[in-house]
Amino acid sequence: MKDTAQLVAELSVLEKAALLSGENTWETRTIDRLSVPSIWMADGPHGIRRQVGSADHLGINGSELATCFPTSATVANTWDEELAAEIGAALGREASSQGVNVLLGPGLNIKRSPLGGRNFEYFSEDPELSGRLAAAYVRGIQSEGVATTPKHFAVNSQELRRMVTDSVVDERTLREIYLTAFEIVVREANPWAIMTSYNLINGTYAHENAHLLRDILRDEWGFDGAVITDWGGGNGAADGVRAGGTLEMPSPGFDSVRRIVAAVDSGELDEADLDARVSELLNLVARVTARAVRASVDQEAHHALARRAAAESAVLLRNDDALLPLASGTRVALIGDFAETPRYQGSGSSLVNPTRVTSLVDAIGATDLDLAGFARGCRRDGAADAQLVAEAVAAAKRADVAVLALGLPEIAESEGLDRSGLSLPDAQVQLLRAVAAANPRTVVVLSGGGPVAMPWLRDAQALVHGYLGGQAGAEGILDVLTGGVNPAGRLAETLPIALGDTPTVGRFPSTNRTAEYREGPFIGYRYYDTRGIEVTFPFGFGLSYTSFAYSDLSVSEERVTFTVTNTGETAGSDVAQVYVGKTGSSRVLRPSRELKGFAKVHLEPGQSREVTIELGERAFRFFDVESDAWQTEAGEYEIAVGPNVADLPLTAMVELDGTVASGALDSTLEWYRTGDIRNVPDDAFEALLGRRAPEAEWGSGRLGFNDPIDRLEVARSPLARLAFRIIDKRRRAAEAKGEPDLNILFMFNGPFRVISKMSGGLATQRLTEALLTLVNGQTFRGLGRVIAAFLRGRRAEKRTRDSFRAAAGNSSNRADGAGKEDD
Ligand code: BGC
Repeated sequence: MKDTAQLVAELSVLEKAALLSGENTWETRTIDRLSVPSIWMADGPHGIRRQVGSADHLGINGSELATCFPTSATVANTWDEELAAEIGAALGREASSQGVNVLLGPGLNIKRSPLGGRNFEYFSEDPELSGRLAAAYVRGIQSEGVATTPKHFAVNSQELRRMVTDSVVDERTLREIYLTAFEIVVREANPWAIMTSYNLINGTYAHENAHLLRDILRDEWGFDGAVITDWGGGNGAADGVRAGGTLEMPSPGFDSVRRIVAAVDSGELDEADLDARVSELLNLVARVTARAVRASVDQEAHHALARRAAAESAVLLRNDDALLPLASGTRVALIGDFAETPRYQGSGSSLVNPTRVTSLVDAIGATDLDLAGFARGCRRDGAADAQLVAEAVAAAKRADVAVLALGLPEIAESEGLDRSGLSLPDAQVQLLRAVAAANPRTVVVLSGGGPVAMPWLRDAQALVHGYLGGQAGAEGILDVLTGGVNPAGRLAETLPIALGDTPTVGRFPSTNRTAEYREGPFIGYRYYDTRGIEVTFPFGFGLSYTSFAYSDLSVSEERVTFTVTNTGETAGSDVAQVYVGKTGSSRVLRPSRELKGFAKVHLEPGQSREVTIELGERAFRFFDVESDAWQTEAGEYEIAVGPNVADLPLTAMVELDGTVASGALDSTLEWYRTGDIRNVPDDAFEALLGRRAPEAEWGSGRLGFNDPIDRLEVARSPLARLAFRIIDKRRRAAEAKGEPDLNILFMFNGPFRVISKMSGGLATQRLTEALLTLVNGQTFRGLGRVIAAFLRGRRAEKRTRDSFRAAAGNSSNRADGAGKEDD
């Protein structure tokens, strides 16, 4: 391929505009006359999902076999950047071997609530941990010549109506909580692309948000890659280009192309903006096609890596009387549906077709445990079954130890669907009670992408949370149960006691037009720690088969030094964590303490190691809205070091001159001083926002292009309302069967706009607008408009496609736009 500047000079406006949207679900367009190839994109964060047959982006149709690594929420528990980079490199090799040029991940949205349906794909409630692990993935993947798209940029916390909600968040919280992880990835790993989120941020779609894409991403952080929409996330094509959005995916047909060309013709869009975006796209193409040879994959080695990752990610939460590890020859009853049919990944666009999957039942034979029997114990759909419980009790009685596999069923968490609660299904809890009564030596092994409430905790003598462990998850768990691996997983999120304790309870997910981030920075441990709220297990927590002691702290503004000693009899690793908090008064509201550094330390029995953690420029900064810059407040800070946020044996003070003087908090923000954020009144939230909060309610008038499709329920047209009821019935039936209907969820969480954006040119924007005339009750007028818009759209599509093909010298064998989509 020629040099980018030269290519841009040789391309016509039509060709340039055409390069800025996808040709089909996964590929960009080619310009044959200039030898510009297309590039292939595929999900996702924990394995490659390259579709071989008909394409969809929701994990519905099959894809090539690939190693299914543990999901990000799982690997986050390792706090291990080296391991994350190793997994990244393996993902990069698999992508390269399958001809995938851009891997759509990692996902690093911050977990605002444990109810987030896609939390299993994200790392943590903390930006430092999320950002550093995501950066490691990016380095690993890109080391194989494959681009990444850290996603979803940004403030995409809920699945409900994810394409239409407006995240209303104050600038400080935006910078410190929701953008810092992306900042770390961009500055430290230089991703070649980034994926914008579906939602609006403070009134503007992410992909059209110049503040986000230009001021922050490019100007402040120095990002030099391509900005890609989430699938169907484009809105105004020219607005996206102007704001810094490079590529619209998957395939709006030539509608967006015509709009960009028209905007340049009318002077509404500067051709220089178009050229800048095309350069970004061509640079991405050049970067990912630089290597002539595809990588080769050793599937055995990748399965072994997936197993190691699963074992290192498992978090030992309880181990009374050192029940674990299980000695060789222990007679074990394996109980639970999950022991036979594991849950090892989540549903949606990240779904991988694994090279193989092992279950506890399959894998136990390779250990030196003695299997005394397997009993399914309960049904996946949660229905009570006394016979299954009786069999489980009998098996537990025959064994030394019962290993009971419990977890969140598939329907509990999915892309497109937020969780409705934190409880395990009641049938599973009843099973645990019965098994534990029969054999108190019961080990619970939990699967699921996030926290669950544990009112049953006392019934489990030992508890291991394996999260979603990937295809080798069961082998990894057995490594932990048998002591082959000493558990070193530490929670990357807090496990609250109950939903009612969480900071966003009652407000998450928002069902309004806006999602108000009223809690400011007080999410996760920042909230529980500041308010002194008891939790089941704190952020950073995890047990080991050995014990560690912390001593000899010394601190300065630049670094923290201390000693960790393995005081037990087994080699093991601990994750030493450094938290910083301001003492005394503060001019800004602040959580009591925040994670600013960590190190994983491996120690032989009795061994001590001096650990130094550089604090770096993020340790004391806050985003000062007044000066629109990062500042450090003068004064005293407490540095605390230990194994989790609730256990910090070492503390020391450090005094900083700062870049701004200390001060007192504005009294309207008093609610936030103590983290009392559950019922923040409007005036306090508006004081935090620095402006009036926008209208939150949906209007009751006509439905528009960007209103959510599920508002059909209140459409003026009785036919539209009937259509809603029919589709919604199908959605509910699927959920009752335990499997979410991803197509319906995608549609209901999106606006009418997606009809145009996902149809490959079949439905132009004008056609969707005509459909809305129908929906809004003007049946005959609407029908006429629909027919006219359809015919006009077909003609326009053909004209633009033919002109583009002629200009680009593309052969017509390569179907682009209409006809190739199966979405
Ligand atoms: C998801 C993205 C994914 C894309 C392509 C979207 O629905 O939000 O994370 O990469 O589909 O499959």
